[in-house]
Amino acid sequence: MSYPRISAEQAASYVKNGFNVGLSGFTPAGTPKAVTRQIGQMAHELHEQGKEFKISLFTGASTGDSCDGILSREHAIKYRAPYTTNKDFRTAVNAGEIAYNDMHLSHMAQELRYGFFGKLDIGIIEAFDVTDDGKIYVTAGVGIAPTVARLADKLIIELNAAHARCAKGLHDIYEPLDPPYRREIPIFKPSDRAGKEYIQVDPSKILGIVEVNIPDEARGFTEPDEVTQQIGQNVAQFLIRDMKRGIIPSSFLPLQSGVGNVANAVLGALGQDPSVPAFEMYTEVIQDSVIELMRQGHCKFGSTSSLSVSNETLQSVYEDMNFFKDKLVLRPTEISNSPEIARRLGLISMNTALEADIYGNVNSTHVSGVKMMNGIGGSADFTRNAFISIFSCPSVAKGGKISAIVPMCSHIDHNEHSVNILITEQGVADLRGKSPVERAKCIIENCAHPDYRQLLWDYLKISLKGQTPHALQKAFAMHIALAEKGDMHLAEF
Ligand code: COA
Repeated sequence: MSYPRISAEQAASYVKNGFNVGLSGFTPAGTPKAVTRQIGQMAHELHEQGKEFKISLFTGASTGDSCDGILSREHAIKYRAPYTTNKDFRTAVNAGEIAYNDMHLSHMAQELRYGFFGKLDIGIIEAFDVTDDGKIYVTAGVGIAPTVARLADKLIIELNAAHARCAKGLHDIYEPLDPPYRREIPIFKPSDRAGKEYIQVDPSKILGIVEVNIPDEARGFTEPDEVTQQIGQNVAQFLIRDMKRGIIPSSFLPLQSGVGNVANAVLGALGQDPSVPAFEMYTEVIQDSVIELMRQGHCKFGSTSSLSVSNETLQSVYEDMNFFKDKLVLRPTEISNSPEIARRLGLISMNTALEADIYGNVNSTHVSGVKMMNGIGGSADFTRNAFISIFSCPSVAKGGKISAIVPMCSHIDHNEHSVNILITEQGVADLRGKSPVERAKCIIENCAHPDYRQLLWDYLKISLKGQTPHALQKAFAMHIALAEKGDMHLAEF
């Protein structure tokens, strides 16, 4: 069967007001770019004619500006799940314009299958190849592509020449059965493969192929500074200590690393420390630093849902496939983030907090408890199931006006029962085996910034005694001070 070649405009015209639309990809990697841009244009024109146009959008994770950015600016998103990082999307969500469901990434595909969102009207999949018998080869990010491709009533394929055929052989596409038929996922080490290199669909579902040549819309990172470098060194030294005392085997355990500037700096520091042995990664996103670590021999293998790297790095990987072919695998998110596999492999998870409280609860998503930052992403998929779960962040934000260590988190994504280790540039709080009061003392002493340390000791002193002491009427006094005078410093509690 040969598919009709259609323009992005024609493809967009198949998407109607109120449709549930599923996309391939994870971060801008592997996410369609031309058709979503055109949907934005179509929304613009329809709105100018006074017509309604909004869609619900289901993805693997964040997308690029040509999806979340444009569609937010054109007021074309009614509902969206799961993770995003786009500034205009964030503004629309925090203005109450978009219904945003910040879900665990590993849940996304199965909740679509379970029918929690209704039916998928259309799927748009970025591919580097599609065969007449319906084999779709996705590009640098997988996300929920296999589930979207299977469930959607109709499919549009964005055939992106920027990925040519070089990506062939990188993918391991596996979709678990739903309960009560689900079996163990046969992955026992990061490099194991469980599935096929392609997604198989019924070719009659494919409405057409949009041929494009568009590079990914990779995001840049802030260069590590003194604080993030110190955090990275603290993480590396902590891991080495745990290895020397036999908690982490000398062969090491696979690492998962989160997104953002802090995570990037932590990986850089691990690579620079000669005492950290060459490691494997079982993670959802591989950023530039890991590709460099692979070239240097510090990282032996990376299992991921996406290569969220700069275009330059991606092309260099494609050009050097002989080297990378046995060092990388790209999986659907429900496998890259599978709780079952995280627990089995004994992952060391490393994610970033916006704030943590003195008992070890972590807020990764909500600024001052109300405004959405990005979303939980896969951080909880890994944190809850890791062998050792680490959170790191600078001890203060906004030039010291905000303490990252607070009496009570204004929103909780990861609770005290799942967080093992908290690390700031000040030091390391090892929370394992400690009661809430022991954890509070350890966090205030080792992680809080000296400017806020006494304040937090004072809070503990005035707290009502109990399993988890608190002074509820004062628990958010630092947040309230921030809202009222732009600074968390208090004269007293
Ligand atoms: N209150 C208000 N703002 C805060 C803050 C706090 N407690 N802590 C940090 N910030 C601000 C910073 O000042 C910075 O603002 P800017 O962009 O205006 O400079 C911004 O938040 C990002 O902080 P930064 O220190 O640069 O961290 P980052 O780039 O490493 O991002 C997260 C941190 C938490 C936003 C990011 O890691 C994230 O989205 N995590 C959740 C999802 C996740 O963990 N996914 C990975 C799973 S594999």
